[in-house]
Order: sequence, then C-alpha cells, then structure tokens
Amino acid sequence: MGRRLLLEHDAVPGIETFDVYRKNGGYRSVEKALKTMSPQEVVEQVQLAGLRGRGGAGFPTGMKWSFLAKPEGVPRYLLCNADESEPGTFKDRYLMEKLPHLLIEGMITSSYALGCNLSFIYIRGEYMWILEILEKAIAEAYAKGFLGKNILGSGFDLDLRVAPGGGAYICGEETALIESLEGKRGNPRIKPPFPAVKGLWGCPTVVNNVESLAAVVPIVNDGGEEYAKIGIGKSTGTKLISACGNLARPGVYEIEMGMTVEEFIYGDDWCRGIANGKKLKAFVPGGSSVPILPHYLVTKTAAGDDRIMSYEGLSEGGFASGSMLGSGGFIVFDEDQCIVRNTWNFARFYAHESCGQCSPCREGTAWMEKVLHRLENGQGYMHDIDLLAEINKKIEGNTICPLGDAAAWPVAAAIRHFRDEFEWHVNQPIESQKRNFGLASVPTLV
Ligand SMILES: Cc1cc2nc3c(=O)[nH]c(=O)nc-3n(C[C@H](O)[C@H](O)[C@H](O)COP(=O)(O)O)c2cc1C
Repeated sequence: MGRRLLLEHDAVPGIETFDVYRKNGGYRSVEKALKTMSPQEVVEQVQLAGLRGRGGAGFPTGMKWSFLAKPEGVPRYLLCNADESEPGTFKDRYLMEKLPHLLIEGMITSSYALGCNLSFIYIRGEYMWILEILEKAIAEAYAKGFLGKNILGSGFDLDLRVAPGGGAYICGEETALIESLEGKRGNPRIKPPFPAVKGLWGCPTVVNNVESLAAVVPIVNDGGEEYAKIGIGKSTGTKLISACGNLARPGVYEIEMGMTVEEFIYGDDWCRGIANGKKLKAFVPGGSSVPILPHYLVTKTAAGDDRIMSYEGLSEGGFASGSMLGSGGFIVFDEDQCIVRNTWNFARFYAHESCGQCSPCREGTAWMEKVLHRLENGQGYMHDIDLLAEINKKIEGNTICPLGDAAAWPVAAAIRHFRDEFEWHVNQPIESQKRNFGLASVPTLV
C-alpha cells in the first residue's frame, strides 16, 4: 500500500461528523492558512506541489489560480465541480460520501487563497443523498466557526452553498456548469473569455474538481515541496482511481502516481487481477472519454517499458498506442466482453448527452450511435467501419466543448485496436450474433 493523503481516515467510524474528523487532524489546513499564511502564499504552495486538476484534463491547479482576475470591487467565485457523470468514474462520490469535511476544508482553504467569499459545490443531480451529507457537514462547519463571518477571528468570511446539478453530463463542462448554476440550460460557452476572467454572473471564477480541492488540504498541511516528492515527474501526489469492470476487487483506490499498471491490476493490495480467473482483454484507464487499449498495451508500452499510472505513463505512445489518465475511471474488460457492444454503449451515452449546440457533435454522435448499433446487431456493412472513422474526423476539434472529442476518441481507438472484431460482426451470419439480447426488438436500419 502506498501513502494515502486523502483517504487515510475513510474507514474511521463517524469520520463524516465534524468532531471525529477534527479529532483525526481535520481543519488544520484552515488554521494554518488563515492564521499564518497570506492568500498568495497558499497559491504558491499549490504551485510548488505541482498539483494537476483531477477532473480529467490535468491542467496545473496553481497556474489556473494565478490566472484569476482580481478587479477592484468585483466578487470572485470558487466552484467545486462535483457533477461526476462520466461512465466509469465514481471517485468524487466516494470522497464526498465518506469524507465530506475534507472537501469543505479544501474549499475553505482554497477560497481563502483565491479571495472568494461565496463558493459553491455543484453536485450531480443524481447524488441527492450526498447533497444531504454535505449540507449536514456544512451546517456543522458553520456551527463550529469554520464557515460564516470572521472565520477563526481572521477577518475572512466565507459562505458555502451546495447546488444540485441539472442531471446532464454536459453540466460537468465548466462553462455549462456556470450556465446551469445561473439557472439557464447547461450549454457550454465559447471561450475566451475564460471563467478566470468572466465566469459566474460575469465575475472571475475558478472551477475545480472535488479531488483537486481536497488535495489542497495535505498540500497546505505538509507544504507543496513534500507533496511534490510523491509521484513521478510532472505527475505529483496521489490519485484516486475508481476501478470497475471485470476485476476481482473493484473499488476506489488512492494510488501514488508512478506505480505500474500491472501492480494495480494484479497486486494483492489493489484489484487482485481479473475476476473469475478470466484473461484481460482490454482497459480504459480514464473514464469513457479516453481511448481503449488492447491487453498487450496495458501493462507494457509499445516500446516494451512498464506502463505507469501517471498522466505521462498512460498517454505514452500518443493515441497510436497510448491512452489518458483522464478522470481515473479505470474500466477493465475480460476475454468474454464484446468491444463493439461496449463502443456502441459508450456512443449511445454521448449521443444522449450531447447538448445539441454544435452540429458536428449533435449530428455526429447520433450517427455514430446508429452505425454502431447496426454493426453490433449484425446489420452493418464493411464500409460502416470506415464511415465511423469519417464521422469521427468531422466531430473532432470542431465543437465548442470537448464532449465531441470525448465521443470520437473511444470509437477511433476501438477501431484502431479491434478492427477485426468489427469485421467479424459484419461477416458473421446474423443467427450466430443472437447472443444475450433479443434481435427481434432491434429495428432495421438502412
Ligand atoms: C462534457 C464534459 C464533462 C465534464 N465533467 C466533469 C465533471 O463531472 N467533473 C469535473 O471535475 N470535471 C469535468 N469536466 C472538466 C471540467 O470542464 C473542468 O476542466 C474541471 O472541472 C476543472 O477542474 P480541475 O482543473 O480541478 O480538473 C468535464 C468536461 C467536459 C467536456
């Protein structure tokens, strides 16, 4: 087991309550920051730590914070992105459910660093029971003087609110999130202006993922340099991984960046290999938006090196033979899984979740879903495989937000690495494809 900076106390009974959390060292970062550090010093520690955004893109958090505009007399806002709707990703859910005060602590310290007096947690609409957990914890923090006016006598005021999301994946995109919080339909905005200049209600705004904000706690407690000693290269610190699919022991794990994928999948402290003694067929390391890799590229890179759990390690080889760490949604497929069916399943999700604002995404995701549906159901043509690649090219890079790319990349990667499986679906007589679903219910598509 490696070091656990975020989940160290997740198994302590009652840790979701203020008193138990505090007894286990909770809220030290707030005391340290508000009593002994200037806001700028907190920002510098986060920069020193090399923390990269845990929401998927891996953008350096300290750098994002340094971009925040500070015009006189204009409020600034910190928004916690707890929308977590990416298939395969459920780490923020775990963190908020088990350790609500860790997120609240991270938000107080971060709001102090950024000069925000009103901050929000925008939480996925389907996580209603966690909204209640958070509201209870926030009420405790107010009662104990960690939220509200003049926190710990420092002169710093902060109000923290939880806002339920609109129940749409697109509301996790930061500008759609802002629109939704403003009470509008969650459509992404054209950038620039970036939220750091013009965000919530036209004011400078920082949007950060749950895990990024929680990581500010150990960074302030131990110092950015100590944090940066953990991990590898530009992937510093620890990372929460939600491991699912055909694993013997799925779950949410905190890893030190730099461990090997092999150890993570097969190690006794981790996922303990593939369930039911089956063989590994493929994996998606960072949520449904990132490229799938076949078994021979999972534990080794194309160059024959060990595949490492880090931003750089998982993308080693580019899209030709690598993938991405993304949000840490680690999905494993055993030898019995059908890649075409899974690709269709993901495509169905993106077609459903496209906000429809950009034609390439609205039309393209719907077409990909249709074509994959007929391929999966034994009604496809050989040229459909190239048609999918064509649709892909029309979407990628041609949309306001990256949802289009997120829909296109997994399809492109599935064809790149598993083309024979797509061809098999075209070549097999339809009878042999009646596997575990009723083809009678599948409409004929032309
Ligand atoms: C369609 C879409 C959905 C997203 N969903 C989430 C999400 O649920 N949580 C999240 O933190 N980031 C999500 N992001 C990324 C955010 O736009 C943003 O980059 C992130 O919240 C920044 O936080 P970070 O720098 O701490 O990673 C999504 C992006 C896109 C395009």
